[in-house]
Amino acid sequence: TELKKVIQGIPKAELHLHLEGSFEPELMFKIAKRNKIVLDYASIDSLKEAYKFNNLQEFLDLYYIGAQVLLHEQDFFDLTWAYLTKVHSQNVVHVEVFFDPQTHTDRGVPFDVVITGIHKALEKAEHELHISYRLIMSYLRHLSEEAAFKTLESSLPYKDWIDGVGLDSSELGNPPSKFVNVFKASYNYGYTLVAHAGEEGPVDYIWQALELLQVVRIDHGNRCLEDEALVKRLIEEKIPLTLCPLSNVALNVIQKMEDHPALKMLEIGMIATIHSDDPAYFGGYMNENYYETAKALHLNNSQLKQLAINAFEASWLTRETKEKHIAHVK
Ligand code: ADE
Ligand code: ZN
Repeated sequence: TELKKVIQGIPKAELHLHLEGSFEPELMFKIAKRNKIVLDYASIDSLKEAYKFNNLQEFLDLYYIGAQVLLHEQDFFDLTWAYLTKVHSQNVVHVEVFFDPQTHTDRGVPFDVVITGIHKALEKAEHELHISYRLIMSYLRHLSEEAAFKTLESSLPYKDWIDGVGLDSSELGNPPSKFVNVFKASYNYGYTLVAHAGEEGPVDYIWQALELLQVVRIDHGNRCLEDEALVKRLIEEKIPLTLCPLSNVALNVIQKMEDHPALKMLEIGMIATIHSDDPAYFGGYMNENYYETAKALHLNNSQLKQLAINAFEASWLTRETKEKHIAHVK
């Protein structure tokens, strides 16, 4: 359709993507087989059947199980490379992706194995696909701050390969305030800070992410619209929100796409951006997220382009590079 062509034609930046969430069942079965791991599901179809979630935790339970088949550098390379070639086909030209080191190191997979596989795929994509990238290490918020500190320490030999730190996993009951010290330490080592906040958790967690953690972007942040003072602050300080519409529907953060706050946010001048979160689990990559959002909210072409421009603005690219990309969107 016309809308699909317009979306394909827009160069895009993806800023909210968990590499472990891009693990397609086909690749999962292939890697499980070569690692001689037997999955609990008899077939790719029966695994896909299980992808029905009532909330964030039900998804996370499956997401962590899937990640267990990743053992070797080649596995992390293949996971990352599959994602990058997929989004390359969707005209994504810049990515800032998350990985969850603790999901792997807690199973005995060395930090080095995880990051080397990911790094090699990102470098290959930069050279061969001309996709620029940043890498963000996420702390799992259901674990302790002390565990996050251990992860920070493990990351230091690879500091040049990592641009930022994030905070993800089970939000309710694990407020940003739990991680104040490790975020401060991460900042002092030169990492740029982001955090998931206000996906399932209350507005107060978004305030905490801003004031206590001092993040430069909020991942999700859907619930900010409940708080006028917070909205004012996000607009004044130009704090971007990385929204993930298909994820929000899949995890019951919203009931239906028509309820998504993206348009309202655009209209009031927030730096709203669109991303895919965990595309293998939620039914779509970047183009599908743009398409379903545009269709449900009746976005016009200039609003679609604004979303793409916002993502370049929200990225960690240099001013000059941002301008180059933005000129291509227009
Ligand atoms: N880890 C992967 N996807 C996530 C999400 N949407 N929220 C929190 N943690 C996550
Ligand atoms: Zn996420």
